[in-house]
Amino acid sequence: MENNQKIILSGIQPSGNLTIGHLAGALTNWQQLQDDYQCFYMIADLHTMTIRQEPSVLRDKTMDTIAMYVACGISPEKSTLFVQSHVPAHSQLQWILSCFTGYSECAKMTQFKDKSQAHSDNINVGLFAYPVLMAADILLYQADLVPIGDDQKQHLELTRNVAQRFNYHYSDTFKIPEPFIPKIGARIMSLQEPTKKMSKSDENEKNIIFLTDSDDQIRNKIKRSVTDSGTEIKCADNKPGITNLLTLLSVSTGNSLINIENNFIGKTYGDLKNTTADAIIEFIKPIRNEYEKIKLDKNYLNNIIKDGMEKANKTAFKTLCKVYKKIGLVQL
Ligand code: TYM
Repeated sequence: MENNQKIILSGIQPSGNLTIGHLAGALTNWQQLQDDYQCFYMIADLHTMTIRQEPSVLRDKTMDTIAMYVACGISPEKSTLFVQSHVPAHSQLQWILSCFTGYSECAKMTQFKDKSQAHSDNINVGLFAYPVLMAADILLYQADLVPIGDDQKQHLELTRNVAQRFNYHYSDTFKIPEPFIPKIGARIMSLQEPTKKMSKSDENEKNIIFLTDSDDQIRNKIKRSVTDSGTEIKCADNKPGITNLLTLLSVSTGNSLINIENNFIGKTYGDLKNTTADAIIEFIKPIRNEYEKIKLDKNYLNNIIKDGMEKANKTAFKTLCKVYKKIGLVQL
């Protein structure tokens, strides 16, 4: 029964082409959880406003990201796929929650500190309040679980704190969500600088495997990826490059890290790169092919988000009304 099903909400910013990091950290779990949960998967377009966006590019990327969700096996029949800005309750709840969030709580967010440094000419209030919008996204749907990569864990912790604070003042209103983070692949690293997270906004494309990359691009990027000193092929803190390649091989094949390490005893870094490139190519090819097809069907994509907009608004509005009532806003 749908009503007894536990709820999931998650989202991705449409600020660029999706990477193998998104697949490993989020989309693979999203796809697997669809059968057992009622899932809301969102395009976090409002979150992209913290950095200047070209309007026409943002519009295209939003639709491309929906196409990529579907290509990655997120089924519009099983899950609700929607665009954040199509549900006004997100912004409405954000304001209320921002009055329950401490200045210092936002100021200590690692992503705020990193992005402030990277965009020092535009440290806007939105960048600061970003995790409060994320809290609103999650709490509106009364999500039990939030499948995310490692970098979003701190934001989820903040969401839980804000929800608990609100519930304490006004009695139980929000469900307290749990993070759902993959054991392997929660933080895919940059190919050239493997101590840094692989990020779609990185200016150096050699650092990134995009889900739209051709077979040749994948092979070249893996071939040129940075490895470590020594020759041993194993996961270790002092071997970030090799650890990243092993992780990529594991997420692309489903094979455990231990098995992979055993298979590579006595082999070379070159062997590891070849096998990893082959595995990623096989992993991504069907997604890329499906994406190229779906992307062309604008009608299909529009219908998905229209349908999603209706369903998401219904659920979100219910929670928003509950909140308005509890805090004493007059409702007619
Ligand atoms: P975003 O758009 O940066 O990333 C989307 C999801 O992909 C994961 N991810 C990665 N996982 C492993 N390795 C990587 N290199 C990698 N890069 C990205 C992220 O951890 C994330 O799960 N604020 C969020 C979007 C958001 C959201 C939400 C998420 C808005 N509202 C509500 C969950 C719930 C963000 O910027 O993710």
